[in-house]
This record gives sequence, C-alpha cells and structure tokens, in this order.
Amino acid sequence: MSYPYQIKSFDEYKSEYQKSVADPAGFWSGIAEHFSWRKKWAEVSEWNFTEPDIKWFKGGKLNITENCLDRHLEYNGNKPAIIWEPNDPEEHHRVLTYKKLHEKVCQFAHVLKNNGVKKGDRVCIYMGMIPELAISVLACARIGAIHSVVFGGFSAQSIADRLYDAQAEFIVTCDGAYRGAKDIPLKSVIDDALIGNRTVKKVIVCTRTRTPVSMLKGRDVWWEEEMKQVEEKGLTFIEAEEMDAEDPLFILYTSGSTGKPKGVVHTCAGYMIYANYSFINVFQYKPGQIHFCTADIGWITGHSYIVYGPLSAGATTVLFEGVPTWPDAGRFWDIVDKYKVNILYTAPTAIRSLMGFGLDPLQGKDLSSLNVLGTVGEPINEEAWHWYDEHVGKKKCPIVDTWWQTETGGVLISNLAGITPAKPSWATLPLPGVQPVLVDEKGDEVTEATDGVISGNLCIKAPWPGILRTTYGDHERCRTNYFATYPGLYFTGDGALKDADGFYRITGRVDDVLNVSGHRIGTAEVENAINMHAGVVESAVVGYPHDIKGQGIYAYVIYQGMHGGDTELTRKDILQTVTRIIGPIAKPDKIQFVSGLPKTRSGKIMRRILRKIAEGELSNLGDTSTLLDPAVVDEIKNGKL
Ligand code: WTA
Repeated sequence: MSYPYQIKSFDEYKSEYQKSVADPAGFWSGIAEHFSWRKKWAEVSEWNFTEPDIKWFKGGKLNITENCLDRHLEYNGNKPAIIWEPNDPEEHHRVLTYKKLHEKVCQFAHVLKNNGVKKGDRVCIYMGMIPELAISVLACARIGAIHSVVFGGFSAQSIADRLYDAQAEFIVTCDGAYRGAKDIPLKSVIDDALIGNRTVKKVIVCTRTRTPVSMLKGRDVWWEEEMKQVEEKGLTFIEAEEMDAEDPLFILYTSGSTGKPKGVVHTCAGYMIYANYSFINVFQYKPGQIHFCTADIGWITGHSYIVYGPLSAGATTVLFEGVPTWPDAGRFWDIVDKYKVNILYTAPTAIRSLMGFGLDPLQGKDLSSLNVLGTVGEPINEEAWHWYDEHVGKKKCPIVDTWWQTETGGVLISNLAGITPAKPSWATLPLPGVQPVLVDEKGDEVTEATDGVISGNLCIKAPWPGILRTTYGDHERCRTNYFATYPGLYFTGDGALKDADGFYRITGRVDDVLNVSGHRIGTAEVENAINMHAGVVESAVVGYPHDIKGQGIYAYVIYQGMHGGDTELTRKDILQTVTRIIGPIAKPDKIQFVSGLPKTRSGKIMRRILRKIAEGELSNLGDTSTLLDPAVVDEIKNGKL
C-alpha cells in the first residue's frame, strides 16, 4: 500500500495548497477516490457557515470500519494493526494483526447487537487504554451506533451529565483500569453515575483489574461471557452497516467557555478522510512504520491518531495503557526501543515533565528507530522543543507542531515532517484545504504587521471535511459558539501570530478556556463545581503560567464561616468537591480565599485583573477605574503577598 496523495516536497505542498483553495471539490474528490465506498457521493461539498449547514460527500455510502479493517485484509491481514503495551512492563504485551482485529471487532459488534444496540443508538465507552477500547469504538462504527468515549479521569457526575445529554442507552466499561501505580475502579464510578438514571439499559463490563464489582441482574453483563457466546456460534464476521456520508460517527464532549461541556459531533465520511489525509501527510507515515501516539483514546487525539487515522492507512499503531513516569521516567524510551517506534507523538506537558528527570532515564535506550516527532495540545515552548529535538530526536528527526481541536477532527496547521520547514514553537503552515485568517475584535481581517508579525483571533474561512457538524442535541449552541462571533467564519477560540512567511504561531485561548497539561477545561465549569461546595459564596477561576502543566488553575473563593476555622482543610474540601463534580483533572492548583471579587458596576468579574494577580504581576494591573470597589483589589493583592 502506498499513498498517492502523500505530499513529497515543499513545492508539491505549495501546488496542492493552491489547488485545494482554487478547486476544493476537485481536490477532495481526488483524495476520496482512494477509499472504499459502497456508493460514490453525488456532491463533494455543500455548506454555509450561517446556520451552519455543512455536508461533505453528499449521497455517498460507506462504513468506516471497511476502510480501517476489511480493505487491508487481502494484502496486510497478518500485519500488526495494534501493538498493546500494558501498564506493567512485566506483563506480556499483545499484538493484534489486522485479521485478528477485524475478527474481534466483528464479534463484539455481534455482542452489541445481541444486547439490543441499533444503528444511531448512543454508546458511552468508559474504559482504560486496552485493546478492547479500540475494539468497542470500531464495533460501534461497524453497526452504525454512535460512540461517545469518556476519558477515565472524569467523575461519576460528569459521566451522568454526558449520559443524559447524549440520551445514551448503552455503556461499555471495565471493572477497573491500571494507570501507573493507580488502580481506577471504573465500574464503580459507572454505578455511581447510574444512580437515578432511567435511560441506560445495558452495561457491558470487560475484565482488566478483576477488582470486585457489583453486577446488576438484567443490566450488567460480562464482556468475556458475551464474546464466548458469539465465538461458540463460530461467528467471526458481521456485515458492516451501510452508512450515509453524513451519518454521525461519534460524539466527543469538550469544554467551552460556558459551564456545560459540548457534545461535538463528527460524521462518517468527512472525518475519516480528514483523519487519514492529515495522518499520512503530517507524519509522513510510510508503510511498515510503527506509530506511537501517547494520548488517551478518551480525547480527540486518540480518536484520530491512535484509531481512525492510522488504521484507515493500514498502519501499525501502539496503544499504551500506562503513564510516562511509571515505573520510571524512561518508560516512553523503553517503548520506543522495544517496538522500534518510528513516529512518536506526544504533548509538550509530557516533554516538560520528562525534562525534569534529566538525561539519566534516556541512558542505554536505543532511540535510533525514530524518524519523526510530534507534539499537540498546547503551545510548545522553545526549551522543550530543543530538548525533544536534541535528546530524543538526536537532531535527525523533524518535529511536527500540530495545531488542531476536538472540533476540527484532525490537524489543521502544522509542518509536514521533513517536507515543509519547521520553526521552533510555530505550528507553521496550514494543511491543504485549510484557509486560516486572523481577525480583530470586530471581525475584520488584520493586515497590519508589527515587526513583520500580524496578530489576531484565529478563524477559518471555509470548511474542510473534518470540521464538526453540530453539537449534539443543540445545534443553536454550535452556531453561537463557533459561527456567530465573526459571521461567515469558524472561530477557533485561539489567538495567533502570523509572520512574513505565512507561518502561524498559536498563542493560546482568547476565551475562558484553560489548557492544563494539554487538557481543555472551562473556567466556568470549575467555578460551578467550586460553588457547589457548601459555604462557598462565589468564586472566580483563571489560569496562570505553570512550568510543567503549561497552565495551572487559580481559584479565588469567597467562603462563609470557615468550617472549624482550618483553611487548609477547607481547601482540601473544595478540591474534593471539584474531584466529585468534574474529576481530578480539574482540581485547582491554588485557592485564595478573598472577601470580594473585582467587579465592574454592571457586576461583571474583571478576570483580567485576577489573571494578572495570579501571574504575580501585581504592579501592572492596568485600568481599574471601572471597578465598583477598588479596595477589593488591594485586599486580594495583599492576600497574595
Ligand atoms: C490548544 C487537542 C498550540 C489550542 C487536539 C486548541 C494547541 C486546543 C496546539 C484544543 C498546538 C492544540 N499549539 N496550542 N500545537 N494544539 N492546542 O480540543 O488552544 O483538546 O484550541 O484538541 O488546544 O484542544 P482539544
């Protein structure tokens, strides 16, 4: 298998880019031809950003699993599709060939059907990073059910909200998950999430940690027993459901500037083609190479670059259950050495955390198999970039700094490994088909440069196949969030710079969304959780620079009647509340108790000031003249000192 649409030179990139802008339909149909379709599309694209109404490959029929599995069987059936590295390096790893993966997916698709799952039903998947997670995702896609994977670090309450929002009737989970030294009781979290739930009919529980779990008669069934029934019937195949190009493939919840996470919806054909195209071009994947993306499948990066991108390209993808620092900080390097990994794709926060352990963990690890390195999730600082380049890539591997979002389905701005130029801490150029524009607050394109650099809010002018289609159950929310700020444009929520070469550098969110260790967290979401704690009157949450996490969470809290008078304990109580409501990933790093918050006369919290104080820039707070009560600021400043 080779990839006719893999760009091979900077000149070719330029001409492909031109073509993609001048004739998007011709460009994308030329790529779509290389996939398996049950029926070809009638129209390549039809869209407006007003409603928005976006369709790609209209009239086309397909199933993404035939593209990810069946079409590889004839020539690559015995090639490894998934290499699974367990949390504990002493445990035996597993390799699933394309043939084996296809068989398991078909069998689990039977299990789903036997349990009543039908096309269009929502299936919530809450599992650790084991092959059965990828199998569940693909089995849903096989029968046309819509999967919604929830990351294992979310609390019962978060799952309950997502189950309700998606009106999910089915759950696939595990008894527990291993992550480093921890044992996470997934099924018991699901049990808590299901208290009072009336829509979920079946919970399929896969065994991993074999911690004791409660199994409710009529509702909970074991994965292994269900699979055995299918195997005993000798079933190894199931016909793939014929899907419309625009049928939903999955829902993935992500944080925005409002309190409630949004269910981003991606559809079958456009998402598949964009995940595949970006995978092949950004990483310059060559048949036979081993691709290791360290993300969790609970995030979009795992969806697109562990599962759908690599498998649709017939690649070998590494699925790692554990964490980079367990049993020691050399774990990534052990994995690279063990499987001769060629492409390593990780987050700046992981690099910064590993830098902190020095060079010892790299000693004696053979990293010579590496060809390409990648980063995603947050801006990468130059120091981390150079460390990655020198000590991991040994200065011979191009680093791709890939900018994208849950909503974009795949990478939008990045250098193409070894093909287009790299520039440390710059994501560089847009992929073909992607037309960025920087606008000012009014939505006018910024054209004026300062020292050769333009700065503005990052928008995209026209759709690419992987763009979100809606937010589940609430299309209006999709419109107001992404398409109403600047009419006619998709607004990313990020700020960016553009240099004279047309290279982009993403500077971070311009809305109230934080990026903590590469995870998106809405400040309003954290505030809502803090406010649920008895005794909290009001709170305001902002981000501040954090050496390892990129951003840390700083919470200002007005608290009444300090229980027992122990501030430290109250802080811990609040952290516990946030852990219950959202999950440990949203715990504030710092909590400052205050008696008031800086507000304007109209009652709006002036976050700009709170941000400055959290950053320690006490002498430079800017204009405070519109404040209702300027004394509040002095009090907060003094409390900080
Ligand atoms: C940020 C993750 C700078 C950005 C794929 C975006 C980045 C948000 C980069 C999306 C990058 C992602 N450089 N910032 N290379 N990649 N971001 O939805 O703020 O979890 O809006 O998708 O992460 O996060 P999400």
